[in-house]
Amino acid sequence: MRPYTKKAAKYYDLLHHRDVKDATRQVKLMASLWRKKTKRVLDAACGTGRLSIPLVKMGYEVTGLDITPAMMEVAKQKKGSDKVRFVVGDMCTYKGKKKFDAIVCGSNTLCHLMTDKKAVACLKNFRKNLVRGGTVVFDLWNCEKWGYSLDGRKTVREKGVTVHYTAKDRIDKKANIHQWEDRAKIDDHGEKLELVFAGRLRWRPADKWIKMLEKAGFKHPGVRYVKDKIYVFAKA
Ligand SMILES: C[S@@+](CC[C@H](N)C(=O)[O-])C[C@H]1O[C@@H](n2cnc3c(N)ncnc32)[C@H](O)[C@@H]1O
Repeated sequence: MRPYTKKAAKYYDLLHHRDVKDATRQVKLMASLWRKKTKRVLDAACGTGRLSIPLVKMGYEVTGLDITPAMMEVAKQKKGSDKVRFVVGDMCTYKGKKKFDAIVCGSNTLCHLMTDKKAVACLKNFRKNLVRGGTVVFDLWNCEKWGYSLDGRKTVREKGVTVHYTAKDRIDKKANIHQWEDRAKIDDHGEKLELVFAGRLRWRPADKWIKMLEKAGFKHPGVRYVKDKIYVFAKA
């Protein structure tokens, strides 16, 4: 099953991004990396609006771009989302009518790009969508410190919904490819269903991202290490 189907989108926040406070902390950190005069921000691969909404609350003009309409439909139901301009599109080819002062791309999404060629092409497209001196910043799981496997089990309960979640990974260490299969047994107000989400990610160490940013024409790249994540950033 592809990871971002309509059903998966409905339960996505419950499974992956419960912590609104954490998202707010993340966008504050991202904002500390760009210029004070930053106004227009593109949330590339905005998903369910986890970063877009706190960014809007901070006063930015936010465009949320995502390739999966079902994920954005979840975002649109959230408080504050009426101020976000949502666009369906591919972040690797999207061309905004006006350039942005900053682009954020959250939660390992760039790791969905399996080849370096694709990743560099996407970064190049980000650069083209930025004003001169504008900032790109993306966060990634710190695989160098914590390893590649996200295996685990958890049970989450919220507002009448219970999810028993099992994450199972297969790691190709040579190619840094992480093939994951997550199973969620869900009880949604008595309705029972089981979902399987599967996908692939390609992990790369921080210095590899820096090289790819430079290849894409970015300047002054840098990395911040915070808890289990790294924030990679650079200037257009
Ligand atoms: C892991 S979620 C992250 C969502 C959000 N950035 C966050 O931090 O919560 C990945 C999202 O990326 C979107 N996505 C994947 N490839 C994309 C692409 N090429 N262009 C735009 N969106 C993409 C998926 O539809 C999904 O909503």
